[in-house]
Amino acid sequence: MPGEGLIIRQGFKKPLRSVGSRRLVHFGGRGVVLCGLEGGMAVPAVAPPGRRHRPGDGGTGVGYLTSMPRLTVTRRLTFNAAHRVHNPALSDEENTRLFGKCNNPNWHGHNYVLEVSVTGEPDPVTGYVIDLAHLKQLVERELLDHVDHRNFSVDVPGMAGTNPTSENIILMFWRVLEPAIRPRTLSRLRLWETENNYVEYDGR
Ligand code: NI
Repeated sequence: MPGEGLIIRQGFKKPLRSVGSRRLVHFGGRGVVLCGLEGGMAVPAVAPPGRRHRPGDGGTGVGYLTSMPRLTVTRRLTFNAAHRVHNPALSDEENTRLFGKCNNPNWHGHNYVLEVSVTGEPDPVTGYVIDLAHLKQLVERELLDHVDHRNFSVDVPGMAGTNPTSENIILMFWRVLEPAIRPRTLSRLRLWETENNYVEYDGR
């Protein structure tokens, strides 16, 4: 069930009221206030605007307790890079037949668009799954700063010995970004090579 397993490490716990045979309890500490059914999962508490939550305020409702919403947010980023689609194991004729203009030995470039999607529950304090400005900075620092205005065929770390099709590029991107985004969940990458062609990957 989404939301189960949320751990309250800091704070206190006191009963608010009974819900059936179980008590609705109130957790506090470190500025985060959560309510939950005793023995169940915790949910963000509702406080009137302008003041902190107090036990008498109650929670967001029993309905919330069984259905913490999971949402997906996406950041779009652009970069430019060159490549030559080429398989050195094949003859020149075979490479030309398979890849056509994309096999041009003098390279060619693309204006790539990368969409990075993160899935999770909204943070109880910010309401964000992830701050998209923070996600943009992370993707630039960890990945695009090492790719933008480079040549995938010759000077991009992680692509050595790999034919730089969009499929192979997005797999390399996933290997870089998935651990960098943890503990949040990278749920999908979509890479547009042209306005008409894209590839997407969800880690499976
Ligand atoms: Ni190309």
